[in-house]
Amino acid sequence: MVRQFEDGLAFARAMDEQDPLRRFKERFYIPQDGIYMDGNSCGLCSRDAEETLLRALDDWKTYGIDVWSHPEANYFLYQDRLASLMAPLIGAKGSEVTICTNTTINIHKALATFYHPTPERFRILLDDLNFPTDKYAVDSQVKLHGLDPADAVKVVPSRDGKTLHEEDLIEAMTEDVCLILLPAVLYRSSYLVDMKKIADAARDRGIICGFDLSHSIGSVPHDFAAIDCDFAVWCNYKYLNGGPGAIAGLYINEKHFDRGPGLAGWQGNRKDTQFDLNMNFEPAHYAGAWQTGTQPILSMAPIEGSLRMFAEAGIEQVRAKSLNLTAYLMYLIDEKLKTWGFSYGNPTQDDRRGGHVALEHEDAIRINKALKDRGVIPDFRYPNVIRLAPVAFYVSYEDVYRLVEILIDIMESRAYEQYDGHRGTVA
Ligand SMILES: Cc1ncc(COP(=O)(O)O)c(C=O)c1O
Repeated sequence: MVRQFEDGLAFARAMDEQDPLRRFKERFYIPQDGIYMDGNSCGLCSRDAEETLLRALDDWKTYGIDVWSHPEANYFLYQDRLASLMAPLIGAKGSEVTICTNTTINIHKALATFYHPTPERFRILLDDLNFPTDKYAVDSQVKLHGLDPADAVKVVPSRDGKTLHEEDLIEAMTEDVCLILLPAVLYRSSYLVDMKKIADAARDRGIICGFDLSHSIGSVPHDFAAIDCDFAVWCNYKYLNGGPGAIAGLYINEKHFDRGPGLAGWQGNRKDTQFDLNMNFEPAHYAGAWQTGTQPILSMAPIEGSLRMFAEAGIEQVRAKSLNLTAYLMYLIDEKLKTWGFSYGNPTQDDRRGGHVALEHEDAIRINKALKDRGVIPDFRYPNVIRLAPVAFYVSYEDVYRLVEILIDIMESRAYEQYDGHRGTVA
């Protein structure tokens, strides 16, 4: 898509005037009234999320144990209500989505369900740019089967350390491979994987296919009815603004409901017989079967308010603004920051780019620290990437413009030179 951008504050303000989502920004708490560009690590608290969290707290105060079954509160089925609100973000049915535990545990749940190695088919296919927890989980599952990850986990290397070539991954789908797990959007470079191409190729070869949507959900819409992969996992604390450490998401394709969960617990039992407390597990016939223990209501509640905002805004509008903002940021980098040694390591094409820009500079650590001292909250990834996520709900075009002006000032004044180049333990 060709976009016409201009330099200058007036242009940025004009873009904000026309922005159909501009009303949402005032519903968020923006830390230090700064420019928040880290929604791909921890999304912001909205008044809507606060309201549903406080309502859950009130319900607990009012109902005690009856919070689970009270006709108004009825938190016993809260995960199903939230799943129905979340499913449209990925084009899935509400029955195929549930929210539980964290992303890493949900990978374990999926592998416990789908990974059944045989002497002929035992390999799991991964890429080398996914977030490491996915590999840790896969390695440990392989070991639980008495196998050696060095042999059973096949990691397809990226050609350039930034992108994945789908043809390389498909070529690696040999007969000994039984499962593939890939990210939808790469957490460093923002590269958006062609998920349908991968899922189609995997299905043709009888390979179970799963995706980690942590860096796409709430930013990039998915059409799971068309992608038709087997499972997916994701964090709800990034673009979904569910709160730090919010309970995570899990998608199970309905064609697998008969399998039941690999890891079972009483909350995954059929709801109508759960309180019969039989010793024999009767799995529910929907993604809710992958629930295990009691749901953390207070961790789930903010997600309700946040999902209401997505329903109100529409994920397509969110994506359209996000693409515009990242394109505008790239335009300003080209126009104004290249002379200072900046470049970006993310794809430029709309259909290949997630929700953030991977700004690169050899002094990125020090520049990142200087940005933080000037009220910009970015995110640093070693050795040279400053991730900038202009989240559609709470970042304006003026914010993007001001961010670039701040970067120019940091470079012109050489202010970044006063910071040390140590990484620290938390980036
Ligand atoms: C792609 C991806 N998967 C998983 C995680 C971690 O998930 P959790 O801490 O919920 O297990 C992250 C965290 O940033 C991530 O980026």
